[in-house]
Amino acid sequence: MGRQFEPVWAHFYILDSPAISTYGVAMADTFLGITNAVNVPAAHEITGHKSVREALRNTEKYSSDLQGDADVRDYRQLPLEVDPPRHHLYRTALTPYFVKPTIEKKSPEFRKNSAELISQVFGTDSEISRSLSLPLVMKNLGVIYNRPQDVAEWVSWGESVWTAAGDGRNGDVLHRHLDEIYEEAITNPKQDIWAEIARLEIGGKVISKEEFIGISSVMLAGGRDTVVKLITGAIWHFGRAPEDFEYLRQNPDRIDVAIQELLRFLTPNAAMVRSTVPESTAETLPEDRYVQISFISGNFDETVFENPYKLDIRRERIPHVSFGFGPHTCIGNHVSEIEAKVFIETLLESGLKWEITESSKIKFYPGAMAEVPEHFESLYLRLR
Ligand code: HEM
Repeated sequence: MGRQFEPVWAHFYILDSPAISTYGVAMADTFLGITNAVNVPAAHEITGHKSVREALRNTEKYSSDLQGDADVRDYRQLPLEVDPPRHHLYRTALTPYFVKPTIEKKSPEFRKNSAELISQVFGTDSEISRSLSLPLVMKNLGVIYNRPQDVAEWVSWGESVWTAAGDGRNGDVLHRHLDEIYEEAITNPKQDIWAEIARLEIGGKVISKEEFIGISSVMLAGGRDTVVKLITGAIWHFGRAPEDFEYLRQNPDRIDVAIQELLRFLTPNAAMVRSTVPESTAETLPEDRYVQISFISGNFDETVFENPYKLDIRRERIPHVSFGFGPHTCIGNHVSEIEAKVFIETLLESGLKWEITESSKIKFYPGAMAEVPEHFESLYLRLR
């Protein structure tokens, strides 16, 4: 029996915040873009590796049938905000675009993007998240969706699609873009993912515009700040622990494991919300229907991970829940893992050595997690 499980993160979750995130926990000053914020506080939080996995599987008790981000959108993000069995139809239709062999074929282009950005940014005084990680993640997405012409616009939105217009949360910029890509996909289809998505059949019927918007919205929002945190976090870690970088140079077969440990430790999406009452069929919607499921608590559960507060790329077993668990498990997991692997391999090949400078601003979690980055507000490096 492990040590009494202490939810050290509990005190920093803003459970009575006006906006609780279902895709990236709402924390007062790091409320990022890929959120499904709900406007009613979560009544309670589910923590611990076992309980989190059980809850994520139990879609009847903890439903994803909820309207998130009601302040910035009025449609369901799909397949995120629908329960089985209908969830399965969307998921099956989208899976072929995200399976490992499909994404692996893009590796040469990911490698070219990584090499270009590393040579442009390393050795300069540019901020890493904005000048390297975000452009890299967006360029790679442009490859996967075959939309290189959109990359500059996606980068201009910044880390979050909901703050693309400025400081406050607002969906106008994203929604104008989604209207345009739908219009183009219907009237003047190109050879890209949107032309195919607009023609997907769900239950024998071609999807509606609203369904297209729901799918493309999460396809553009879901893999932004999460993958950016993973790439920036890798640069941060190897900059302060060059011995780990050297270990990977000597043991390239351990890169995959190192990425799993980075995913665990950084937990780019800390929590999601579920509703105890499926919203689209309920007659009344009780205020206390939301429950927050804490992925980060699962990832730092001392009964599963020995010394969880240490980023240890030599761990043998890393059953993290950073991509969630159960039917809604992240569809972009291979995208994230393959992008990160190609990036780390390219960095190793570059022969560069660097350290993180004091001018970097990293927000760490409090208490026992004081060495775990919550958010890289800015990261700067200097070559060694
Ligand atoms: C390190 C990077 C990423 C992390 C940590 C992450 C995390 C997650 C998590 C925790 C979920 C489950 C949500 C839930 O249970 O309610 C999820 C779902 C999802 N993610 Fe990701 N994600 C990442 C990258 C991506 C990328 C690159 C894409 C697409 C390009 C993506 C698209 C999606 C979609 C569409 C869903 C909904 C799946 C469903 O409901 O069946 N994610 N993600």
